Amino acid sequence: MQKRASKVRVSAPGKIILTGEHAVVYGFPAILAAVNKRLVVEGRRIGKQTKIKVLKSDIPIGAGMGSSAALAVASAAAQIALEEKRWDLNNINSIAYESEKKYHGNPSGGDNTISTYGGLLWYRKEAESFKTFRRIIPKTNLPNLFLVNSGIPKETTGEMVSKVADLCSRNPKKINRILAKIEEVARKFLNLLIEGNGDWNELINENEKYLELLGVVSETGRNLIRGIKKIGGAAKISGAGGITNGSGMVLIYHRDEEKLRSFCENNNLEILPVKLGGEGVRVEK
Ligand code: MEV
Repeated sequence: MQKRASKVRVSAPGKIILTGEHAVVYGFPAILAAVNKRLVVEGRRIGKQTKIKVLKSDIPIGAGMGSSAALAVASAAAQIALEEKRWDLNNINSIAYESEKKYHGNPSGGDNTISTYGGLLWYRKEAESFKTFRRIIPKTNLPNLFLVNSGIPKETTGEMVSKVADLCSRNPKKINRILAKIEEVARKFLNLLIEGNGDWNELINENEKYLELLGVVSETGRNLIRGIKKIGGAAKISGAGGITNGSGMVLIYHRDEEKLRSFCENNNLEILPVKLGGEGVRVEK
């Protein structure tokens, strides 16, 4: 009889949000992309118990790149692998969603879904028990995108989601108009990805404008984004944002990489190149 494995290593990717953060909490669509930065956990069976520890991660923590979702996904998957249950992504995703809820309160479920399935997804939370998503296969190669950290937000994702919820209850008409505008951006982005029609610069900047209207971008974040716009690029926060200090990672598009590099060098900013469409959760050899 074969001995059951007592140790397993599982990795899951971090994510960026091309468009639709915050709006996705209210049932609007988001375009999510897994990235080439991963977190690895090790699961061990000790007697009847399983213990999970995080071995390593190159996903920046608390910067809007889905590090907590990647941890939830990898941990759920490690548990399933150790218990020799069927490797079912749906199941891994729902277990991870439950731990995201404990951690963040009212998440859309997008972060755990993209970390589970990987690639690029069009995602919607229609209702708590009805979430839909579909893989996006881009028509052409994606452009080079970059990340620059505008600073770790003081607020947690859960707090940022609550802030938008407060705003929404105080001024539902205005906030709904902004969310509907974000959906328009998401549709244009989808068109850009699957048909090749549209402009990265324009869409990223337009999305950022609405995020600023939602009040989720700090002054530090806004200054960085203005600077990038001034040199002809486009930038937006990616994730929940932050108000008091930084707003986490800023996603940048620039046709002229050299120009962006020298801007970052002059301003002492570290550039993190990022590849979209990373593989979802997997068992490591
Ligand atoms: C966080 O990465 C994205 C938010 O839209 C929250 C969520 O989707 O749960 C701000």
